[in-house]
Amino acid sequence: MVKICCIGAGYVGGPTMAVIALKCPSIEVAVVDIATARISAWNSDQLPIYEPGLDDVVKQCRGKNLFFSTEIEKHVTEADIVFVSVNTPTKTQGLGAGKAADLTYWESAARLIADVSKSAKIVVEKSTVPVKTAEAIEKILTHNSINKGIEFQILSNPEFLAEGTAIKDLFNPDRVLIGGRETPGGFKAIQTLKEVYAHWVPEDRIICTNLWSAELSKLAANAFLAQRISSVNAMSALCEATGANVSEVSYAIGKDTRIGPKFLNASVGFGGSCFQKDILNLVYICECNGLPEVANYWKQVIKINDYQKERFVNRIVASMFNTISGKKIAILGFAFKKDTGDTRETPAIDVCRGLLADKARLCIYDPQVSETQIDKDLNMMKYSWEHPVLLKPVSPTALKQVSVVWDPYDATKDAHGICFLTEWDSFKELDFQRIYDHMEKPAYVFDGRNIVDPEKLRQIGFIVYSLGKPL
Ligand code: NAD
Ligand code: UGA
Repeated sequence: MVKICCIGAGYVGGPTMAVIALKCPSIEVAVVDIATARISAWNSDQLPIYEPGLDDVVKQCRGKNLFFSTEIEKHVTEADIVFVSVNTPTKTQGLGAGKAADLTYWESAARLIADVSKSAKIVVEKSTVPVKTAEAIEKILTHNSINKGIEFQILSNPEFLAEGTAIKDLFNPDRVLIGGRETPGGFKAIQTLKEVYAHWVPEDRIICTNLWSAELSKLAANAFLAQRISSVNAMSALCEATGANVSEVSYAIGKDTRIGPKFLNASVGFGGSCFQKDILNLVYICECNGLPEVANYWKQVIKINDYQKERFVNRIVASMFNTISGKKIAILGFAFKKDTGDTRETPAIDVCRGLLADKARLCIYDPQVSETQIDKDLNMMKYSWEHPVLLKPVSPTALKQVSVVWDPYDATKDAHGICFLTEWDSFKELDFQRIYDHMEKPAYVFDGRNIVDPEKLRQIGFIVYSLGKPL
C-alpha cells in the first residue's frame, strides 16, 4: 500500500487529501498538523472548515484510509509521498516585508522531513510558493540527511481549488499540474504522482512540466484571475460615472469567446487568503529579477482592489448626506465569498474599518461567520502592503459600535442602510418589504455584490446603489 502524508490540515490539505483517500482506496492517507485543535476538529462531527460536500467525503473514508493526526514524525517517516500544504503568508518583517512569501513554516516542515526520514521520499509542494523554492527545499533536504544516503525527489503540484467549490473542483479539476526535475529520478517521481491522480482525473488533464514552470504557473494563474476582477471593477467606476451598466458590459464582453464569461462579476473587491499574497509574491520576484515594469504592472491589480473598497465606503458616506455618525448600518455577509466561513482578507474587514472610522454603528450578519471570528478580524493589526507598516486595529471605542447577530432581520431592524458584502444565495430570498418597513427612512441599500434586483427594491421604496450601475 502506498502511504501518503500531508503536512498541513488546512483549507487545502484537508479537502485535497480527503478526496485522494476517497478516490484511491488502495492508498493510506494521513493528514498531520501542529494545531491540535484543528486535528481534533477534523476527527469530530464539526469539521474545522465549512465546505459543501466535504463532510460526506470525510465520513466515507475517515478511519479507513484517511487519518488526521498530530503524530507528525511517525506519519512522515512511514510515508512514500509527503505533501507539504502549510501556510505561506506574506512576510511582515525583514527583507521583502509586505511582499515576499514567508517560508518559515515550509522550511520547518522540510527540516522535519530531512530529520525523520529513513527511506526515499517524494516531497510535493502543495503550498503556493515563489518560483525556485524547490531548489531551496532540495538543499535543506539533501544537506540535512547527507549521511543517510536518502534520495528525495521534489515535485511541484500546486492546488487550484477555490473555496466554496473545493470538492467539486477536486473531483473534476480543469487540470492537475505536476512539475519535476528533468532527470530519470524526476520523471519517475512525476509518474508516481500522476498515477495517484489518474485514479479519477483523465490523463489529458494531467499536465507535466519542469519544476519552475509549475511553481510559476500557480502564481500566474492567480494573478490572471485577480487581474480580471480588478479590470471589471475598474470598469464599474467608469460605468457609475457614465451611466453604463457594468453587468451589461460584462455580459457583452464575455460573449467574445476569447474573453469568456467567467470571473467578470464586479464586486466590492476580491478577498481571500491568496490573491493579494500571491500577487505581492510575484511583484517581489519581478523586483528581485530586475523587472520593475513587470512588478508595477501587477501591483496595479492590488491598487485597484484597494481603490474599489475605499470607493465603496466613500459612496456610502457621500450618499448618506456625508455623515454616518451614529447611524446603524447592517452588514450582510462577512465571508470573502459565499459558501465559506473563511474571512481571510475579506473586503468586509476594510469596509467595516472604513465605516467605523466615520463613526457608524454596525450590525453584522453572516450565516457562517461567528461573532468571535468577526471580533478577531476587526481587532487584528492590518498590514499595509504599500508602505510596509502595521495599521492599528479598530479602536476599543469603535468596536463598541459593532454587534453581531444570527438573523438578517435583526441586523436590518432600525438600520439606515444595508451593505451586501458577500453574495450568499439566501440574501436573494429575503423579504425586502418586511425589511423596509422596519428600517429608518430614507432606507438605503448598497449592493457590493450586485445580488439584488435594484428595480424591485426601488419599487418598495429603497434608495439603491448597485456597483457599476446607474442610480
Ligand atoms: P491554512 O492556514 O488553512 O492551513 C495551513 C496549516 O498548516 C495550518 O493548519 C497550520 O497549523 C499548518 N502548519 C504550519 N506549519 C506546520 C508545520 N511545520 N507542521 C505541521 N503543520 C503546520 O492554509 P491553506 O488555506 O490550506 O493554504 C495552504 C497553502 O495552499 C498556501 O500556500 C496557500 O497559498 C495555498 N492554496 C490555498 C488555497 C485556498 O483556497 N485556501 C487554494 C490553493 C492554494
Ligand atoms: C482562488 C482561485 O480561484 C483558485 O483557483 C486558487 O486555487 C485559490 O484562489 C488560491 O490559490 O487560494 P478563492 O480565493 O478560494 O480561489 O475564491 P475565488 O472564487 O477565486 O474568489 C476570490 C475572490 O474574488 C472572492 O472575494 C470573490 O468574491 C471575488 N470575485 C470572484 C469577484 O469579485 N468577482 C468575480 O467575478 C469572481
